Formats: sequence, C-alpha cells, structure tokens
Amino acid sequence: MSEIKSMKLYAHVGRIFRELGELGKSVDDPLSVDELSAFDQLHYHGTAALDVAMAMIGVDGGQRWLEIGSGLGGPARYLAAYSDAHVTALELQQDQHEVAQSLTARCGLDDRVEHVCGDFLEFEREPGSFDAILSWLALYHIPDRPRLLEKCHRLLAPSGRFYTEDLTARGDIDEAQRALLQRDLYAITLRHINEYRQDLEDAGFEVEICQAMSADWAEFVRVRLAAYRADRARHLRVHGADAVNAMTDFYSAVNRHFQSGKLGGLRLCARKPETAA
Ligand SMILES: C[S@@+](CC[C@H](N)C(=O)[O-])C[C@H]1O[C@@H](n2cnc3c(N)ncnc32)[C@H](O)[C@@H]1O
Repeated sequence: MSEIKSMKLYAHVGRIFRELGELGKSVDDPLSVDELSAFDQLHYHGTAALDVAMAMIGVDGGQRWLEIGSGLGGPARYLAAYSDAHVTALELQQDQHEVAQSLTARCGLDDRVEHVCGDFLEFEREPGSFDAILSWLALYHIPDRPRLLEKCHRLLAPSGRFYTEDLTARGDIDEAQRALLQRDLYAITLRHINEYRQDLEDAGFEVEICQAMSADWAEFVRVRLAAYRADRARHLRVHGADAVNAMTDFYSAVNRHFQSGKLGGLRLCARKPETAA
C-alpha cells in the first residue's frame, strides 16, 4: 500500500483545500460540484471526459453505478449530480477517501454518493449489484487483470456496462522502462490496446467502443506541464515548495513517458451480455 505513494500525484492530498482557500472558502463552507471540478478530477480533460462516459452508457433513471479508484471523489460527485444514478465510490487510499467523503458531504450529496475505502480485489457485493462500472486512470494500478474483470462481470447486472479510460503500453517496453513506469505512475498492469480489448472479451464482455487516446493525451500532458511551469510563482505562493516540486516532477515524468512513445491510453466501453449470469 505504501508503494502507491511513490507516485507523486498522491503525495500532497491537502492541495485541494489550499485551492478552495484561494476561492475564499473556509474548511466547512458548503460547496458545489461545479466549483470543485477544476481541482478534483485526477484524469485527462476533467468533466468533459465524464460527459462522454454518460453519453455512452446512458443516464436512465435510478441506476446503481460503481466507480473503481475514485480518488478525491470528483467523478463520482459529478456523475451523481448530472444523472439520477446512485454512485458507489471505491478508493484504496485512506487519505484520499477521507477528503472525498468530506467534500461530498459539503456538496450535500452524501445520500447519492457512497464512499467506500478499500481494494477493489477485496470488494464484496451481491452479484448483479451494479448497472454500470466506471473507472478513470485507476485500473492500470491494479494487479491480476483476469480477477479484476471477472469481478466486474459478476458485479454487473445483465446488460450492464463497463466503461474505462486507462493507461496502456505502446511498442516494446524493456525492464528498465517498466521500473520507471512503476515508480513514476505506479503502473502495475500496462497492457497494449489489442490485449486490453481481448482481456475484456475473454472475461465475457462484448466490446462496443475501444478508442486509442494516446495522441490526444500526449498533447494534453505536454500542455499541462507547460502551463504548470508557467504559473510556478502562483503555485509556490499557494502550495509551498514541497508540493509544487512534487507536482512538477509528476507532470514532467508523465510527459516524458508519453513522449517516449511507450505509454498510451484508451477509452473503452463494453457490455455484459443480457443472457450472462
Ligand atoms: C489517477 S487516480 C484517479 C482518481 C479518479 N478516478 C479521478 O479520475 O479523479 C487513480 C485512483 O485509483 C486508486 N486505486 C488504485 N488501486 C486501487 C484498488 N485496487 N482499489 C481501489 N482504488 C484503487 C488510487 O488510490 C487512486 O486514487
């Protein structure tokens, strides 16, 4: 569990409270989902990526959704606020889970978003408990892909949808590169896109959309790093040197891995067949 903190994105969880302080919010002021969304989305393209997911899986009333690896709770709150779904937000890291829970309460969404702290591989619910399982930039952290997908299949109701945006491998990656990807991004399961799709089919899913995001995300992380560097003085004033150096290291490492041509990403939507148990 301590190893995931080698990824510097997770080192200074309290950064979000400093950003809220900049907006004049004190620690227990009520918040809205929209004022949080600039700070609580730990994936690429923020809430625009969530809109794509909701359009693909549909937002018909009263659904039960599970988000795996929910971070600070940003996606779960947005999904709940902009659909009728009840969202279970499962997060491994205790500190992120606690921040997520407090932000959700301040948004008045605690009856729509259930926060659970734990490892998805140990998470237990009745078969068919969810109408959709969603995940942004989290599944590549998790070992044992066959077990992960078998659990997703079992937890979904028939016709339920599995949706992810996740990191992927590109080209041949040697041991030294894998070690750096593990240190910088805690990349444990990095599959090539064709393998990723095959894993879903082997687990009994029908893949509906499998889209390469590599070029788009390589540009996103390049621009993100440049913008962060350009605003360094402001970030130092708000967050202090430790947090800013950690984030600069993290954004630089991600950019380096994407530009090396070894790291990519995908958007994938799949369905559990109606007749599957
Ligand atoms: C890059 S963050 C993305 C957070 C969130 N999905 C978002 O987009 O804002 C990935 C999250 O997955 C969580 N995670 C990693 N392994 C997990 C596991 N086995 N079970 C549950 N969560 C996990 C990490 O702790 C981390 O908070």
